[in-house]
Amino acid sequence: MNAALTIQDLRKTYGNGVTALKGIDLQVQEGDFFALLGPNGAGKSTTIGIISSIVNKSGGRVQVHDYDLDRQTEKAKALLGVMPQEFNLNIFQKVIHTLLNQASYYGVPRRVALPYAEELLERLGLASKRDTLVRMLSGGMKRRLMIARALIHRPRILILDEPTAGVDVELRQILWGFFRELNQQGTTIILTTHYLEEAEVLCRNVAIINKGLIIRHAPMSELLKELEFNTLILDLAQPIHNLPTLSYPAELMTPTQLAVEVKRHQSLNPLFEELSQANIKVFSVANSQNRLERLFLHLIGGHL
Ligand SMILES: Nc1ncnc2c1ncn2[C@@H]1O[C@H](COP(=O)(O)OP(=O)(O)O)[C@@H](O)[C@H]1O
Ligand SMILES: [Mg+2]
Repeated sequence: MNAALTIQDLRKTYGNGVTALKGIDLQVQEGDFFALLGPNGAGKSTTIGIISSIVNKSGGRVQVHDYDLDRQTEKAKALLGVMPQEFNLNIFQKVIHTLLNQASYYGVPRRVALPYAEELLERLGLASKRDTLVRMLSGGMKRRLMIARALIHRPRILILDEPTAGVDVELRQILWGFFRELNQQGTTIILTTHYLEEAEVLCRNVAIINKGLIIRHAPMSELLKELEFNTLILDLAQPIHNLPTLSYPAELMTPTQLAVEVKRHQSLNPLFEELSQANIKVFSVANSQNRLERLFLHLIGGHL
């Protein structure tokens, strides 16, 4: 397999002294659907900014397919389509011109760009907005236009920086379907997200970034296996002093609080039967944390 993107020891300290990247190594294979997952401020947009030549790096190396981003910049850039996190559209332009201007920036002839621009607008539900000024578009439409703009020169790698942040459920589903289709047609996709669910639904491989460092790089399926168990906290109606024998791993936290490990999607009925046979009444049940929080805690060793 060929690497689509190779990042070595990438570092960034901003002018104000904030060190956003502390030496990141990352490799994304051609054809992959890859997630860079991490909390706000982790360094995701900085990484993407450097790859898209918007942010100057402080150190390290970026290679796009066979091209070094510093030495063969134009060739490397031609392979990349980037949708940034922040809106950066010219709002006084018509929708169609947003795409055609971008195409000409990449040297795509108009006769080639025009039919593809129309196709992208159609595919993203913007065909009726073809001649509308960008400033008249809703937020969701602007986002879709930014996706079309990232694709107009048919890049081999599509980079999406939080493409569905602040997007409603329906549009999110549409975009997910569109991204999947692109990936099936051969486009390598790299997306950043702070939603575990998004990475889970779309991505085969994932790197987790926290405070400017990659703390994990693994197939999605492997990470999910680690999350198979869920800790339930049971508040008991009456205090107990001895833990009864249960067929679940359990621990008495306080006389009225029982922590029980259950497998995801496992029925809880047998647990409650066992408890009732032991004459233990449960007052309430809570999930200890959400899954993304647990994943971070698990990886960071309890210090979030
Ligand atoms: N232009 C900038 N100037 C100074 N600090 C910045 C700038 N952009 C981002 N940062 C800081 O760099 C860190 C990483 O930010 P960012 O890459 O945007 O994270 P993410 O995209 O994961 O939320 C944060 O501490 C952020 O405040
Ligand atoms: Mg960001």
